[in-house]
Amino acid sequence: MEPIIVNGDKFVVSITEEQIKTRISKLAEQINRDYQDRIPVFISVLNGSFIFCADLFREITVECEVDFVKVSSYGDSKTSSGNIKLLKELNCKIEGRDVIIVEDIVDTGISINFIHNLIKSNNPASLKIVTLLYKEKNLKLDFPIDYVGFKIPDMFVLGYGLDYAQKLRNLKSIYVLQK
Ligand code: IMP
Ligand code: MG
Repeated sequence: MEPIIVNGDKFVVSITEEQIKTRISKLAEQINRDYQDRIPVFISVLNGSFIFCADLFREITVECEVDFVKVSSYGDSKTSSGNIKLLKELNCKIEGRDVIIVEDIVDTGISINFIHNLIKSNNPASLKIVTLLYKEKNLKLDFPIDYVGFKIPDMFVLGYGLDYAQKLRNLKSIYVLQK
């Protein structure tokens, strides 16, 4: 697959469409097993996780629901600003529900920490987190990331929902910045 040049930066394929697909069916298998007698609500964190959530959700075979929250942290840069804004609230009632937060990537951990606390304050019966990508350098979280698609090094990635200044979310593979 061809590299992509954005603003003079070169990005190469890091995780292929096929690898993503295979990994997602494994994650779904695990979730289907863990939620056999329950009706989980998937909370997709916009914008980045919409593609991952859509693909994962269609592999879920237990009865389930989906809703969305939207936060922004990056602005248009390649590093986290650490300044989280809640841009769209939850619309469903999650008190007493089995909630699964769906993230595209856990980088510094600031966003997932914010969202975790937000959901937790609504008293769900249980709360788990699934993320497609996980950068290992993230800050110490006082809760587990229950389902991880791929652990990746601390490098900027894009595609498959992840953007660079809002662009390139439509790429089918995940690309990494080549130094
Ligand atoms: P965190 O708060 O630093 O963990 O960042 C989380 C959010 O920043 C993710 O949900 C992504 O939307 C975005 N993000 C983090 N790392 C990357 C990256 O390498 N490429 C694109 N977006 C990223
Ligand atoms: Mg995100």
